[in-house]
Amino acid sequence: MDELENFIFSGDCLQFMKEMKKDYHERIRLIYIDPPYFSGTDYTLKKRGKGAPERAPMLIEEVTYTDKWEGGLQEYLQYMRERIEAMKPLLREDGSLWLHVDLHASHYVKTLLDDIFGESNFVNEIVWRRTNSPKSQSKGFGSQHDNILLYAKDITKFETKPVYRKHDEKSLKPYRYEDERGKFRLIEIEAQGIQRTENRKQFEWRGRTAPYLYRRETLDKWWDENRIYTSRNGRYSKKQYLSDVQGVLVSDLWLDINPIQGASKEYSGFLTQKPVALLERIIECATEPGDVVADFFGGSGTTAVAASRLERSWIICDVSSVAIEIATKRLREMNKPHYELRTSYGYTDT
Ligand SMILES: C[S@@+](CC[C@H](N)C(=O)[O-])C[C@H]1O[C@@H](n2cnc3c(N)ncnc32)[C@H](O)[C@@H]1O
Repeated sequence: MDELENFIFSGDCLQFMKEMKKDYHERIRLIYIDPPYFSGTDYTLKKRGKGAPERAPMLIEEVTYTDKWEGGLQEYLQYMRERIEAMKPLLREDGSLWLHVDLHASHYVKTLLDDIFGESNFVNEIVWRRTNSPKSQSKGFGSQHDNILLYAKDITKFETKPVYRKHDEKSLKPYRYEDERGKFRLIEIEAQGIQRTENRKQFEWRGRTAPYLYRRETLDKWWDENRIYTSRNGRYSKKQYLSDVQGVLVSDLWLDINPIQGASKEYSGFLTQKPVALLERIIECATEPGDVVADFFGGSGTTAVAASRLERSWIICDVSSVAIEIATKRLREMNKPHYELRTSYGYTDT
């Protein structure tokens, strides 16, 4: 891995992307961004100030970044458009953009992305449960999730590895059968419900005529491998052994990654900090070791921490000096990555 590709840039990402266009054209495999959400809020950080020795230290509140837009939604969308447009040419042809938003403007940002990346390159809208305790509302319902909009640079070249999560009590329930090979659950091999279309052919197999979902040769193979279960009324199903599955295949509903809380070990004090596990899942499924991962709204540096743990090169950027300070501290504490800190495209510190 090229160590010099790890760097933190301090400044507006638009300026930075313009400057890096020449060196990084089609070189980045994955961009994750968690930009301002059009929330109308100022985000602050509480710091301990110096007080008199006999008094408890004062807490000073410092604004890390503001998400207030005088020009309203149009100004926000124009700001996002300019920056997303600058990101696209940096992505490799098999690369992807993962854009983290919430209820405030997600649908407007989706149409913006459709426009810039093309509707056909839309892959997923991932729903991540970002809090376990939504606030009560006088109207409607408390919001409990964020959205991560995933776009491929070119859907025909983009791939992801399947992601599994650990089994839990609920997902283990169907594995209530057991034989000499271990616990298993039953998988239908006959068409059910809407799969029973008029054109689906039935055929006879081992004394039972049914609209089978698999070819006779496949069913014979499973039979020889003792992977077919026969119920008391002569119906066949496939046995799926617990030992053959890596876990539960993850869908676009991510409920299993806990949000950062005040008491979380990894909490840096940065209010909008995302969990390293969230970024690890994203980076692991859509990149390989040695690939370059970028986050142009890096905040407390979560993307860099995750990328570094997974042996990917990384580039992060932030306009707030407080964010840069926290990210730098987190990365130093990892004691692993070599990186450069830059305030323009020129080198300033290591
Ligand atoms: C939601 S936070 C990112 C949090 C981050 N994902 C983490 O885990 O810590 C958004 C960040 O975008 C930064 N930001 C806002 N406008 C920016 C710009 N034009 N260029 C670079 N960073 C910007 C803010 O300072 C803030 O740190």
